[in-house]
Amino acid sequence: MTSSTNFLAAETWSDPHPYFDALRQTDPVSWNTWWRGWVITRFDDVDFLLKRSEYMSANTVATARAQASPEQLSRREATFRILGSWLVLNDAPDHTRLRRLTNKAFTPAMVAKLQVGIEARATKLLDAMERKESPDIIADYAHPLTLSVISQMLGIPEGDRDQVAAWGTAITPLVLDGRENKERREVAEATLIKMDEYFAQLLEARRAEPADDLLSQLALAEDQGSLLSENEIIATCILLIFAGQETTTGLIANAVLALGENPSEQAKLVAQPELMRGAVEELLRFCGVAFAISRVATGDFELRGEQIKAGDKLLLTIGAANRDPEQFDEPNRLDITRDTTGHLAFAGGAHYCLGGPLARVEASIAIKLLLDRHPNVQPRPQDIEWRGVIVAREPVALIVDLEPS
Ligand code: HEM
Repeated sequence: MTSSTNFLAAETWSDPHPYFDALRQTDPVSWNTWWRGWVITRFDDVDFLLKRSEYMSANTVATARAQASPEQLSRREATFRILGSWLVLNDAPDHTRLRRLTNKAFTPAMVAKLQVGIEARATKLLDAMERKESPDIIADYAHPLTLSVISQMLGIPEGDRDQVAAWGTAITPLVLDGRENKERREVAEATLIKMDEYFAQLLEARRAEPADDLLSQLALAEDQGSLLSENEIIATCILLIFAGQETTTGLIANAVLALGENPSEQAKLVAQPELMRGAVEELLRFCGVAFAISRVATGDFELRGEQIKAGDKLLLTIGAANRDPEQFDEPNRLDITRDTTGHLAFAGGAHYCLGGPLARVEASIAIKLLLDRHPNVQPRPQDIEWRGVIVAREPVALIVDLEPS
């Protein structure tokens, strides 16, 4: 069947689940004329496709490059070169090689080492937030927290962090749903060039004098005689800024909102902090930021009676799949003690999120410290504006009352 709904329009996107629930029931593999691709909503189908990368390509850059005119190829050289080296936008065998090398640098030990710093930073941010009249969970807490974590991990000097974060936000139109306007895309492409130059200089400094950071580790990472090229190292840093920050910020904000809207679950978590690990998994399932990922079919195949053709765009809506009643009982209910095994908040298969362990640590600490100090924290009644991007459903701001009367 066909639908023409612009699901990013505020009336749907402010509460997308009724729309996607209905689609899952009546039209689980649906051609959307606005998005110009297939929208896939059932858990089984999304899970199946994520694990069968031979059916789909993540390499949207190759398609754009193949369709570009000589003038575009020259003007957009940095975009094609950098995004073309992002592991998330590559298929095997390039993806496999990039991922193996990045994994060598991105170790559990590195994540564990960050834990103390995350707690200290979150505590300082809470101190400052308590002095604000209208504390915003995003601007005053989650965003500076996740920014400092990824910046510290990469080895970005303190004084450069805000600039790098602003650049990270400015490049989003290049990689999100492709429906952004031309002007924003041009700003994004110019920003990418600045980031390329910035990380090239930082890399040169780290090669001269390695430090205890991910950038130095990426420069040293070696797998069976293969090393990352300079362009691949820089591209990976830019990807990590982009992939590691907005997502975790959004998870923390979505979690505070969902707990506030479900006060009995919040009270349960306050009374039994040992439930935190499972609570974070349930929050990932229930409101886990990455609403959908986009792919291109690599061959013709049939799915639930629909004929998918090579080159068709596929939107795997993991946010909708995680609310499939065939997979999770009463999926629209937040239940921090439920079994969430198999949820797709970090996708699955070859591209399964590399930063999952870090995101879990960051979110657990952020929520725990907030609830320790403000067990009754509540979102203030407000008209929430949601960022209009399909890969990350999160509020632009979330004002809270730390001690509601
Ligand atoms: C709540 C937080 C996060 C969520 C919901 C999330 C979600 C995702 C999803 C859905 C993908 C798959 C994308 C695709 O297949 O197209 C992904 C991939 C990735 N994520 Fe995350 N992510 C989070 C945090 C992080 C963090 C903190 C980092 C790093 C510091 C990170 C780094 C990556 C990388 C490098 C990939 C690409 C993996 C590959 O292609 O092999 N993510 N993430």
